[in-house]
Amino acid sequence: MYASFKAIGAYVPSKSLTNRDLEKMVDTSDEWIRQRTGIENRYIAAEDEYTSDLGAKAAELAISRSGLAKEEIDMIICATITPDYLCMPSTACVIADKLGISNVMAFDISAACSGFVYALNIAKAFIESGLKKNVLIIGAEKLSAIIDYSDRTTCILFGDGAGAAIIGTTEEREASLLDIHTSADGAFQDFLITPGGGVKNPCSPDVIDRHLHYLKMKGNETFKLAVNTLTKDVTRILEKNSLSSEHIDFFVPHQANFRIIDAVGRKLKFTKEQVVLTVHKYGNTSAASIPMAINDWYESGKLKHGDLMLLDTFGGGLTWGSALVYFNQRD
Ligand code: ACO
Repeated sequence: MYASFKAIGAYVPSKSLTNRDLEKMVDTSDEWIRQRTGIENRYIAAEDEYTSDLGAKAAELAISRSGLAKEEIDMIICATITPDYLCMPSTACVIADKLGISNVMAFDISAACSGFVYALNIAKAFIESGLKKNVLIIGAEKLSAIIDYSDRTTCILFGDGAGAAIIGTTEEREASLLDIHTSADGAFQDFLITPGGGVKNPCSPDVIDRHLHYLKMKGNETFKLAVNTLTKDVTRILEKNSLSSEHIDFFVPHQANFRIIDAVGRKLKFTKEQVVLTVHKYGNTSAASIPMAINDWYESGKLKHGDLMLLDTFGGGLTWGSALVYFNQRD
């Protein structure tokens, strides 16, 4: 029995934040943002709309598309770096309650932008070991809550949103999660960091005054490492499975920056048509970015049952991963 990608869903908040809006908030320009990142717009959750609300809405859609009854879901994983609560309860537990699902294993994972691919890997392991049958995985972020809107180097990049998938079972290898590779290197932990609010720098007036509770990024260093690591990782997973870029229907990279996607796509010889691109619409939504991109391609009619996707991701930790996944949702 193999694990299989049975359904996708996503949710995008209604309020948009354009480059023009950001021009009024910090010293930046629409032209700079487009040229350096490819981002034109991002969406921001309402004040009383939390990560669990975004995640629950994406999950409802994925569950309805899967045709499963909620009672058939036996595990929930939520990948997020913006949980509703810092320590407990987990956002997965809050989402489970909002969905009306109880008595199942539910937990969060923290792997920043790589969270969805990490969750996919965990779901695969639980399903293929026979422990679980239908796992709901969610990538949900309210990044606007940890962004410093006076810091032009980060506030232009990020947006809010959620994506969710149902991972079930199949007997066919050509309908499975063919292979997943996930990894990390903590030596680069300061490249992407929220220094305050945890036990090292607990919440205090000083932490808040110094803006330590906000996301900080060494953008240029992260950029260079991302291009090299992703190219190597994707090459490795293709070679290991005796595949090359022409066997892939859609390359679904983490949507952080058009220039990273373009550089990796070119090195791997993907055509424009193969590369899934949504960063211009949503900005970087961290763990939500890959499932939101898959959902966009599905809803626009490009992604079809049986297509082979190559996912790849890179984020804080530093963490990264890649996955070869057949899309096994039936309309
Ligand atoms: N508007 C105008 N100028 C700006 C802005 C802005 N919004 N931001 C920075 N600049 C300036 C800088 O101050 C700098 O000016 P200087 O030369 O006078 O010092 C200049 O632009 C160049 O800055 P760089 O940081 O070198 O710009 P770069 O080309 O690297 O682009 C960016 C910055 C977009 C952040 C890029 O480095 C990037 O995308 N990095 C990778 C992000 C990523 O992939 N993160 C991983 C996932 S995120 C996660 O896990 C949560």
